[in-house]
Amino acid sequence: MKEVTMEKIVNMCKQYGFVFPGSDIYDGFANTWDFGPVGVELKNNVKKAWWKRFVQEDKSTYGVDAGILMNPRVWEASGHVASFSDPKMDCKKCKQRFRADNMIEEFSKGEVAAEGMTNEEMEKYIEDNNIKCPHCGSHEWSEIKQFKLMFETSRGTVEGSKDTVYLRPETCQGEYVNFLNVQRTTRAKIPFAIAQIGKSFRNEITPGNFLFRTIEFEQMELQMFCKDSDSMNIYNNYKERALNFVNDIGLPSDKLRFHDHDKLAHYAKAACDIQYKFPIGWEELNGIHHRGTWDLSRHSEFSGKSLEYLDPETNEKYIPTVIEYSIGADRLTLALLCEAFEEQELENGETREVMHFNPAIAPYKCAILPLIKKNHTDKATEVYNMLSKYFMCTYDDSGSIGKRYRRNDAIGTPYSITIDDETVNNNTVTIRDRDTMEQITLPLDEVVNYINEKILF
Ligand code: GAP
Repeated sequence: MKEVTMEKIVNMCKQYGFVFPGSDIYDGFANTWDFGPVGVELKNNVKKAWWKRFVQEDKSTYGVDAGILMNPRVWEASGHVASFSDPKMDCKKCKQRFRADNMIEEFSKGEVAAEGMTNEEMEKYIEDNNIKCPHCGSHEWSEIKQFKLMFETSRGTVEGSKDTVYLRPETCQGEYVNFLNVQRTTRAKIPFAIAQIGKSFRNEITPGNFLFRTIEFEQMELQMFCKDSDSMNIYNNYKERALNFVNDIGLPSDKLRFHDHDKLAHYAKAACDIQYKFPIGWEELNGIHHRGTWDLSRHSEFSGKSLEYLDPETNEKYIPTVIEYSIGADRLTLALLCEAFEEQELENGETREVMHFNPAIAPYKCAILPLIKKNHTDKATEVYNMLSKYFMCTYDDSGSIGKRYRRNDAIGTPYSITIDDETVNNNTVTIRDRDTMEQITLPLDEVVNYINEKILF
């Protein structure tokens, strides 16, 4: 089996319409990417699968869709204004910018935890160990400065007056500030969770690992509000559920692992990442965090509104503890692209590129392929119109049937449906399976059920 590299994945994505460089005709814009016609379907399906598993199928979880722009006090309460920054330094020779802590951790192969070091300690370590610029090899570094990760913009109500506002760097604050609104309107009893999916923005300097770390990305986040005495059980339960989700959606167990954090925030009882073995190595896919009462306490303090919960059975009043589960939709999509991709050597010596997506997240569920354009277009259009009411279908009538199968393999379409004379005369179709390449014949009126059963997640 051929090795899957990030470079191959980037090329596949550009070639088949999964992902294009952002602002492409302007030579791109660093660490931004645009999802194309195939990629947008894939990412939408990933988000739908997450929402189904964690919101639709869980009667104690409620969704919200909060604003990207929030009252700036939110980011003071959360601690982001004061301390959401990375230690950065510039190579004086090639002018590239790097994260000092990452360089130290890479250099020491994880032996040195730079997280707890001051800027001066990091500068000394880099000097003592003669760490060189990964880009040009020189050792001429600027001093290390903290680099703010929140994007700022401004809002002026009258000309000349401007207030700083921030593009949210995480979606979860929209869940905390709506805790009481959701609890009141749903009459939810603790433990219950609030979930949302939405864009976040971070002014990251990154080594450019495609979708892995970008400046604009989508998060799927969930905050479970609970009694402190139940919190560790709930935390462990989310670890399992989070692992099962990524496993079920297409990442194999041997490429997934828990990474429990040794160093915890002062308010946290536990924190854990799930890591996936990307082509660039083991990296964080998602986080599960025990956040204590920190978030709601801080928002109570800064807003002046009590966020206490009144237990209707015991009449006890308390600030709930929060268990957070957070996963990036783009990062998970990248993991699924890396995992699904195969360059398969066929018996006839050819290589077929295939994306073995779980059918539930495949961009298109089926391809409608009229065998001979002039004979089968009308029937194929009728079949497309019928099936596209149920799921995303793609239609392809150009080139040989073999080439059309290959194109659909490359975008991960699990079922290719050939429309031929048998379809016109007897209402039967041939369905080819993407993974086995085997074909079966089915009456047309059984196709919806056949595919619906396969794509259930
Ligand atoms: N509210 C908690 C929080 O935001 P985080 O570990 O900073 O925690 C959670 O982010 C998840 O969001 C990560 O595990 C990752 O999947 C995704 N993520 C974070 N930063 C990202 C970035 N710059 N680009 C793409 N995904 C990112």
